[in-house]
Amino acid sequence: MVLSVQEVIKRFHTTLALDCCNLSVQKGEIVGLLGPNGAGKTTCLRAIMGLLPIDDGLITVFGQKQDGKNKEIRRNIGYVTQEITLYEDMSGRDNLAFFASLYGMDRTQIAKRMGDVAEIIGLQAKLGQKVKHYSGGMKRRLNIGCSLMHNPQLLILDEPTVGIDPQSRTFILQAVKHLAEEGTTIIYTSHYIEEVEAIATRTYIMDNGHMIAEGTLAELIARIQGDHFIEVEVRLGSEEKRKQLLALEEVKEVVLSANRYRIVVPGGIPILDKVLLTLSDQSLVSINTKQPNLEDVFLTLTGKQLRDEVQL
Ligand SMILES: Nc1ncnc2c1ncn2[C@@H]1O[C@H](COP(=O)(O)OP(=O)(O)OP(=O)(O)O)[C@@H](O)[C@H]1O
Ligand SMILES: [Mg+2]
Repeated sequence: MVLSVQEVIKRFHTTLALDCCNLSVQKGEIVGLLGPNGAGKTTCLRAIMGLLPIDDGLITVFGQKQDGKNKEIRRNIGYVTQEITLYEDMSGRDNLAFFASLYGMDRTQIAKRMGDVAEIIGLQAKLGQKVKHYSGGMKRRLNIGCSLMHNPQLLILDEPTVGIDPQSRTFILQAVKHLAEEGTTIIYTSHYIEEVEAIATRTYIMDNGHMIAEGTLAELIARIQGDHFIEVEVRLGSEEKRKQLLALEEVKEVVLSANRYRIVVPGGIPILDKVLLTLSDQSLVSINTKQPNLEDVFLTLTGKQLRDEVQL
């Protein structure tokens, strides 16, 4: 076991940011952490790093208690923060060297490791340039590189692909997969469900400071198996119509988001006619029926859509 978070409580004044939070990670896993804005993901990661005192519960990393002072834990974790932390007026190489020095690496060790890290993040040709001339995607990659210099056993990434170009995103995902193959344990937080679907060996879904579901993709989907989805897009959705749909006997759940009603119906019950009748006075744009995926698991469990919230 690389990491264990047990029944952790963290309050910020009246906000309960972590409400009996549980998480465990085994060596070699890529654990995905999904949750809407304010779910408590960053708080959970900061608590794991020992950067925040917790109010209750226990966190152990590499079998040792995280009390915020344990240098051995710190030395073996790489933490890629949600906000990019780089020195814009310094070159990529100097940034990598600076962050490595914070981990006590000397010049020889830094020089030896620099080439490997530059290759992992694909910035070999750009390391001499000042960071202020980098694109957003290059900065993200360098930011990840800075947390890899000390060759951590556990790498924690907090939304590392927000707002970057598709090539950089693909590059980062492949690099993360490759690091895991080489033996690094990974915790990967993202708003992009398809990223988590693509790389995570196991996923936690977090909401209101609490893990509400955990499992492999297949296990999570199995939790809502039997449920089918009818998605109806209209010109102008309304809460009143959502309630009318929910009142239909066969309907389990209805989420209205961006003028789309997502209607959850237990396996195969043919109620499309009833749905259309209920919405007959609405101007329809499209209708879809489909089998569940991770996004549906998320929606069903939290009643929230990840991506729309991030765009707000
Ligand atoms: N330093 C702080 N002081 C007060 N409240 C905080 C602090 N940090 C976080 N919170 C609150 O704790 C809750 C969890 O926040 P957190 O940043 O962990 O969420 P998140 O899941 O990382 O969200 P996002 O997806 O937006 O990054 C939120 O209600 C937030 O406002
Ligand atoms: Mg966050």
